[in-house]
Order: sequence, then C-alpha cells, then structure tokens
Amino acid sequence: MSVMSPTRAQLERLQPARERPLVWSDTHGRTHDYLRISITDRCNLRCRYCMPAEGLEWLPRDEILSFEETTRLAGIFYDRGVRKIRFTGGEPTLRRDLPELVSMVHARCPDASLHMTTNALRLGELATELRAAGLTGLNISLDTLDPATFREMARRDRFDQTWAGIETAYDLGYRPLKLNCVVMRGLNDQEAAAFVELTRDREFDVRFLEYMPYGQQNELQPEYVSGDEIRQTIEAAGYTLEPLAWDGGPARPFQVPGHVGQVGFITAVSHHFCGACNRLRLTADGYFVNCLYGPKRADLKPVLRSGGSDLELAAAIQAELDRKWAAHPDLTAGEIEVLGTMSQIGG
Ligand code: 5AD
Ligand code: SF4
Repeated sequence: MSVMSPTRAQLERLQPARERPLVWSDTHGRTHDYLRISITDRCNLRCRYCMPAEGLEWLPRDEILSFEETTRLAGIFYDRGVRKIRFTGGEPTLRRDLPELVSMVHARCPDASLHMTTNALRLGELATELRAAGLTGLNISLDTLDPATFREMARRDRFDQTWAGIETAYDLGYRPLKLNCVVMRGLNDQEAAAFVELTRDREFDVRFLEYMPYGQQNELQPEYVSGDEIRQTIEAAGYTLEPLAWDGGPARPFQVPGHVGQVGFITAVSHHFCGACNRLRLTADGYFVNCLYGPKRADLKPVLRSGGSDLELAAAIQAELDRKWAAHPDLTAGEIEVLGTMSQIGG
C-alpha cells in the first residue's frame, strides 16, 4: 500500500515552527531520537528463533533502497532530532560496499552516533573500514560459547569465525560492544554464568534476551526462559548482580562487583518497555514502521521515487508515527498479528 499525499495540516505541523523544537513525537507523549535502518533482509545464518532453516523469500533487488535513498531518509530523520542510528538486517554486512553507506550517512548526520547489529561473521574483513567510516558501536549476536550448540542454534558451523570477529572488533575499540544472547531452554540456558564470566576482564556488555514470539510463531514458544529465571541461574552460580543506573531503555543493567563489563536483561516478554520507546524503524524496502510489532504500512518508496520533497517524506513518516500505539498487546497471548520475521523488520 502506498502513502497518501500529506494533508495541508500535516505539512503545516512539519514547518519549522520557532516556538516548537523539531522532534519526532507521537500522540502518547514519546519523542523518538533513535532510528534503526534495516539494509538487507538476507542473512548468512539461520538462527532458530529468527529464520526458518530454508531461509525466506528475499526482497527483489529493485525494491531495496539505494545508498542515496537511505542516506536521504536518514537525513530527514536526523533533521528532526534523531541522534542515534543503527544499521540492522538481516545481516547488514552482506550489503556490498557497506563502509560507503556508513560514511555517507555519517557525513549527512554528523552528530548522530552510528551503530550496527551483526552476527560478526564478516567483521574480520570489515571492522577496520567500518570504523574509519564512522561506526562506533556494535551489538553482536552471540548465543553460545560452545561450537556444537552454535551449530544447533544458528544451523551453521561458524563459532570460530564469529568469535574471531568479536575479538577483532574489541581490539579495534568498538564501544559499546554488546553481546546479545537469546536464551532458549534446552539449548543454551546452561551457559548464562559462562557469559557473565566474559565480563570479568573485558568491557563486554552481555545482554540476555527473552525469546520473543514473532513472525510465524506468534505464541510463546516452549523454549522461552524468563529474565528472572536467567538471573536466578546466574546468582545460583555464585555471581552477585548489582544494579546500575537504568536509563529507561530495554536493557536493565547490572554489574558483578570487580568485573569490568556489564550484564543486562532484555525482558521484552515478561516486562514490556513500550512507555520509554524512542525507536523509529526503516525497512530495507523503504517502509517506515512505528513499532517492532507494528504493521508494514507506510511505503516511502512511491514518495521517494516520484520526486517527493523532504517535507512530503517527513509528513508521511509523521502520519504513520501518529498511529503508533501506546503499547503492543501481551506477547504471551498469541494476540499479535503474524508479521514478517525480525530479519525483515530489522529487530
Ligand atoms: N526473540 C528475541 N530476539 C530475537 N532476535 C531475532 N529474533 C528474536 C526473537 N525471536 C534478535 C536477537 C539477534 C538479533 C539479530 O535479533 O537479538 O541477536
Ligand atoms: Fe541472521 Fe541475526 Fe536472524 Fe541469526 S538472528 S538468522 S544472525 S538475522
């Protein structure tokens, strides 16, 4: 479905009004300064909680935004207050010439911090160039420290390559360097303490994520483990978790006394954090999406590709942001409409 032309009232709301700062606000009083840009729906792993073994039907090439289109949209978001941008996928490093895109966005959005979510497989090759292009933060998916479990969870035998990518990124000074671990019962739930151990000598920010129902699986899965249970496992192994100041974001941060890194829990299922949501999402094929669980409805491509102005694009984005709900429904109840996968929305 395409976006309708903005109304006069919408355009006027977007005019630089002296008395009102330019921000992305919704109708529930939230301001949004964080943009997640999915730049490809493809991936070189097949993590069980994310993708079916056979992969998905990939987007056709001509529907994927060009670097120029992505940079233009990033700039429109930036002009109204976005100061943090994350590249996601699928696996963003599969996009050819990624460092060029990063430097284009960096040049257009100089005061925004640039981050990427990746599985680290290609970081050995790309980390240096990406850093030179302006990328500073990395969230790396790492669900296990055991090569056999890796093969089981990601359906590919790539633990060593992943770990090598993480070490390269750490040594190059990427910070924050977050390690995201989705906990699945019977697969990696016995490894929580080993992950906490990683924070002893290194500035890793280990985050345990609750397995969220998503896509085809819109009901809570049997492998789900709550954040509270993960914490208990860690404490039972003898680690003390001291709470650190919380910024209201999705991860509740903790630190083991004496450790240099941190530990966090992203309890998207057991405690939702919609009230503090500051996220805007752009899909690889140019839809603006107002929630991870929101509909793929606002296609910006027709506006982009028919010579629409920045103001028209901003109005189309604002109109969709105006439809953002206060909170998504309970994720445990199977009430969520079946959407694409996280790899298609960008997590
Ligand atoms: N539940 C929780 N996190 C998920 N991710 C993908 N699918 C899920 C899911 N069902 C997140 C993981 C992964 C990133 C790429 O997307 O954090 O590291
Ligand atoms: Fe790929 Fe990330 Fe999904 Fe795993 S979680 S299949 S690495 S997009």
